[in-house]
Amino acid sequence: MKRIAVLTSGGDAPGMNAAIRAVVRMGIGRGWEVYGVEHGYAGLMSGDFRRLGARDVGGVIQQGGTFLGSARSSDFKKPEGRRQALEQLERAGVEALVVIGGNGTQIGAHELSKEGLQVVGVASTIDNDLAGVDMSLGVDTALNVALEAIDRLKVTASSHGRAFLVEVMGRDCGYLALMAGIAGGAEAIVIPENEIQPDALADEIRAAYQRGKPHALVVVAEGARYNAVRLVEFFKRRDDLIGFEFRVTILGHVQRGGTPGAFDRLLGTRLGAAAVNRLAHGDHGILLGLRDGEIWPNPLAEIAGKKKELDLRLYQVAQVLGM
Ligand code: F6P
Repeated sequence: MKRIAVLTSGGDAPGMNAAIRAVVRMGIGRGWEVYGVEHGYAGLMSGDFRRLGARDVGGVIQQGGTFLGSARSSDFKKPEGRRQALEQLERAGVEALVVIGGNGTQIGAHELSKEGLQVVGVASTIDNDLAGVDMSLGVDTALNVALEAIDRLKVTASSHGRAFLVEVMGRDCGYLALMAGIAGGAEAIVIPENEIQPDALADEIRAAYQRGKPHALVVVAEGARYNAVRLVEFFKRRDDLIGFEFRVTILGHVQRGGTPGAFDRLLGTRLGAAAVNRLAHGDHGILLGLRDGEIWPNPLAEIAGKKKELDLRLYQVAQVLGM
């Protein structure tokens, strides 16, 4: 009988519970023992493991977050921390590990795999910045949460004839901002991949005002150089530049905490099931993610630490559509 473990690490993402559930039940279905590691790599280092049965993952598929808990562990980045984690796994007789998380998490997975552990990663981050993956787990739900907020803000913006700056998450990447901006019909989008100076943005907003628009909606990525806080500083000093009165909303972690939608529940289930099947076939050192509609195995050695490029053709389309 094989004994495997599963953990979630880094920022939580809607759909992680569906993935854990699939790992646990697919593993049990193969006659394996499955352990959950609490609080990501921190729990791996401290040996915080618990055996999970089929009933332990009942009722979790519809819950956001991760019932195993997550953490960002700086100690695990050090060789000493990783050695400790490997010792804990050996002590518990765990032969293989499923690691659910984003970029930083998969760098850790790659390090463990280099030490000889059988590791399969599952692409999960609302930032959607993992190389080789079209849609990471959690992105769709986060995007819909952002979109609902944008739709609401647009209503109040129109009622008052205001400009709204809405900041969405995305540490160094503008995927969420670009997609939410396009889907929400934004007048302008600010992303780190195509930085814009505040006075150029002010020109765009004023032009919208002069064209008679009832509102201006600007979606800003938190990772942009001029994020919402910095733009507010600028506009406060120069509000004469934009025509509209303006307001700002920072969505922040609201986007991460959402109830997973159908897409993420299904994606999490497919990814978790595929992770167990891959382990059964003896695969290791791979990151599973959705690509071209299929669950694709990306070698961790090729993608760990690499960022996915944002398709800027869509940014150009958005610029025209905001007319
Ligand atoms: O990586 C996902 C993410 O939500 C980023 O968009 C954001 O910059 C970061 O995590 C926030 O991290 P924390 O939850 O640790 O504040």
